[in-house]
Amino acid sequence: MLKLSRSVSVLQPSLTLALTAKAKAMKAEGIDVVSFGAGEPDFDTPDFIKAVAIEDIQKGVTKYTAERGGPDVLKAVCATLKRDYKLEYKPDQIVVSNGGKHSLWNIMFALINPGDEVIIPAPYWLTYPEQVNACGGVSVIVNCPPEAGFKITPAQLRAAITPKTKAFILNSPSNPTGAVYSKEELLALGAVLKENPHVALVSDDLYQKLVYAPAEFHSLPAMMPELLDRSIIVNGLSKAYSMTGWRLGWAAGPKDFMDACSNLQGHSTSNVVSFTQRAAAVALMDNEEFMKPWIATFDKRRKMLVDGLNSIPGVKCDPPPMGAFYVFPDVSATYGTKINGKELTNSLKFAEIFLEEARVALVPGKAFGEDRCIRMSYATSEKVIEEGLKRMAQYLK
Ligand SMILES: Cc1ncc(COP(=O)(O)O)c(C=O)c1O
Repeated sequence: MLKLSRSVSVLQPSLTLALTAKAKAMKAEGIDVVSFGAGEPDFDTPDFIKAVAIEDIQKGVTKYTAERGGPDVLKAVCATLKRDYKLEYKPDQIVVSNGGKHSLWNIMFALINPGDEVIIPAPYWLTYPEQVNACGGVSVIVNCPPEAGFKITPAQLRAAITPKTKAFILNSPSNPTGAVYSKEELLALGAVLKENPHVALVSDDLYQKLVYAPAEFHSLPAMMPELLDRSIIVNGLSKAYSMTGWRLGWAAGPKDFMDACSNLQGHSTSNVVSFTQRAAAVALMDNEEFMKPWIATFDKRRKMLVDGLNSIPGVKCDPPPMGAFYVFPDVSATYGTKINGKELTNSLKFAEIFLEEARVALVPGKAFGEDRCIRMSYATSEKVIEEGLKRMAQYLK
């Protein structure tokens, strides 16, 4: 019999997989399921980006490239860091990987020794603790409830730091809450990091471009250059460029550390797909005009969903999300009530019952470390949002 390694046996089975599979099966049977599960924009990748990849395939750009990425894409990432972060990075401080998820994987592997602690504010993107645990690290989860705006406070961060702390993961705008940290909030967290030089900062900025006024994106390492020698910035093209399937993310950090990530990647996946690299470079260097209507559309849907949810008894969207494309309403006031005889007892039951009874697909907050909430994505049409709200109101009236 094959015995699984410790690394994979600690991985949690996805809480959402069974529900997603059930929603899919119901759809396949012709049942009109209204889905709020999407983790990717519902827009197509812009044609000018696709054209570059097509041209490169035809030109024969179909061979291995340098492990960390070819010169075009590395140069474009450096230019992006200069434009968006006002930071000077050299190509040898960048590694381009198969999505931000892969960048994070390289980083965790390069950072963590068994027993090292990594501080993760909850609600969190569910991949963080899995990666930390698989590397033999200890995920130190810090609870940041809706009442605290889903944000970690400097006092909480300070209290969570021990001599074993290796890193702190910061994700703003956040998946799943849409919380966006202000400049002042980031600087206050940065001050705690300054007191603790042994703690690395991993700044996951995947949703950087998807921020709604009056909120603004700010980067802690960009505001505190003293932290740059232990900060790693992670970003990518999946969300803002609607390129999830292309699998292209990047990380920037101190040269030695990024060399180690490149070496690691060289022994696992090697370079990202050759003919996506120049297309990504062209995307990054674009003036981003195409993004403006997308952001306006997301913002309109966000308001629609937040207002609609807040008008349903027992559902509270407070604070409203200010970034990404998710709302994370607190539905715990409905726990203990029944829908067609089935009791809503927690977020898993809530999602299961809403799928079965109302044919609405939601993601239980427990998957992200907050059982009072559910996650709903507005990377879907206004029509779907309207119908979903109607069904939720009907079943929770
Ligand atoms: C917070 C966060 N970070 C990173 C990622 C990784 O995205 P990708 O691997 O597509 O770049 C995601 C994707 O859902 C995410 O939500």
